[in-house]
Amino acid sequence: MSEQLRGLLVVDLGTQYAQLIARRVREAGAWCEIHPPRTALEAARRMDLAGIILSGGPASVYAEGAPEVPSELLELGVPVLGICYGMQWMSQTLGGTVEGSGEREFGHTSIEVDQASEVFDGIDGRTVVWMSHGDKVTKLPAGFQVYAHSDSCAFAAIGDPSRRFFGVQFHPEVSHSVRGQELLSNFVLDVCGLPGDWNAGNIVDREVQAVKDLVGETGEVILGLSGGVDSAVAALIVHRAIGDRLKCIFVDNGLLRKGEREVVEEHFAEHIGMDLTTVDARARFLGELAGCTDPERKRKIIGKEFVEVFREEAQRFTNAKFLGQGTLYPDVIESVAVHGGNTATIKSHHNVGGLPEDLDLELVEPLRELFKDEVRRVGAHMGLDERILLRQPFPGPGLAVRILGEVTEERCDILREADAIVRHEVEKAGCHRDLWQYFAVLLPTKSVGVMGDARTYEDACAIRAVSSQDGMTADWTYLPHDVLRTISNRIINEVRGINRVVLDISSKPPATIEWE
Ligand code: XMP
Repeated sequence: MSEQLRGLLVVDLGTQYAQLIARRVREAGAWCEIHPPRTALEAARRMDLAGIILSGGPASVYAEGAPEVPSELLELGVPVLGICYGMQWMSQTLGGTVEGSGEREFGHTSIEVDQASEVFDGIDGRTVVWMSHGDKVTKLPAGFQVYAHSDSCAFAAIGDPSRRFFGVQFHPEVSHSVRGQELLSNFVLDVCGLPGDWNAGNIVDREVQAVKDLVGETGEVILGLSGGVDSAVAALIVHRAIGDRLKCIFVDNGLLRKGEREVVEEHFAEHIGMDLTTVDARARFLGELAGCTDPERKRKIIGKEFVEVFREEAQRFTNAKFLGQGTLYPDVIESVAVHGGNTATIKSHHNVGGLPEDLDLELVEPLRELFKDEVRRVGAHMGLDERILLRQPFPGPGLAVRILGEVTEERCDILREADAIVRHEVEKAGCHRDLWQYFAVLLPTKSVGVMGDARTYEDACAIRAVSSQDGMTADWTYLPHDVLRTISNRIINEVRGINRVVLDISSKPPATIEWE
């Protein structure tokens, strides 16, 4: 970003909620960055800092291996809010005492607010919060007073108003804390004094200016559109900044869903007037995939082929020295692996952003500091076509990971038709709003059926509908009976090649959302 933005530092002390805290701060209308303790102080000094939030975490402040937080963070003269572990660390560092309580306080808990001021401004009486802690503060540091208590926690919220240091033993960022967002907004807006003007309009202005500054008066940018919301919004921003000097490339790999290529061409080329090249690489991808049935190999072939096609196309734009990508903030944040990471490859993911460094282009990443919900808001603000804006996630390798067994043009066509029926009927019934994904999968299993008086022996197709927050875990969803019946009838009657429809009722884990 070009100009320094006043904002908050969220220090990730190993919590699973660091991104949630940051999103809540952004919802309150303020800019913030997430950093692990190791880089927090350097970030705090670099930023135009308005305040600090210390997150929760699984460690005990007195235990070996507890995150080493630089105590200088408390000497910068800015307000600090410690959440759970963050409050315990702050209390101990400032001379208070933290002890293991022997019992865990977990779940919905009623607290009584003792002082309805500062972070509790406008929040009085009893309110329900989400607790999850074993340790607790047993002696307050000098200058601190009690802001709230619960039956089993005398110091549910504490603060030193003169230094503007506050601590909450509960998790205001979790939606179960009924007035948690108000508390965080109080901290961000009233205590830290931020104006609350971080919104889609400002984000667009800033990012457009940043692209102009980076690319200059004559620079050209190449950008691969995938049909998804991230690359689309990135393209809109870059286009607003440099117009025709943005060269978009859309690769039709033959593995797209019905209508997808048309939507991209209509919206970007015809409606917005972008310089868009559609590369018809269908035969090439399907040729490489011929005979391949192994899921990982399919993914590898598609990833490699995409890079090659993109590289060839990019070479046509000899003036382009920049590559636009829709990288999001969660891909950039350095996470704190308190429990150690899981390094097993479940699936090798592919997306349009994954282009190799040897393309030798400088990156332009206008979404690098945004969460997905902010990207959607920016897209809506910039008039992105709803079919792209609200599109369900679709994997980089496309229909290939939903066609079990060999991927052929004929089988792609069959699945495209079946999938279009699933999408149409689910959306017509309005069920899609609660779903993360809903699609059809073509199985490599033939079964016997009867059509009219004739025997059929054709493929089966599975329907997958799941709800999820982030794709990491997912629950299968039972679509209404009449919707399922219409989908089944229509697929069997209208799609030549499928004579049986089955329902996938597996959650993730242990299943994954995609079948391959
Ligand atoms: P799984 O199948 O691993 O999928 O449960 C989790 C989420 O990720 C999507 N997915 C992908 N997205 N490139 C992507 O950009 C990929 O290679 C890829 N594979 C799976 C999937 O659709 C689901 O939302």
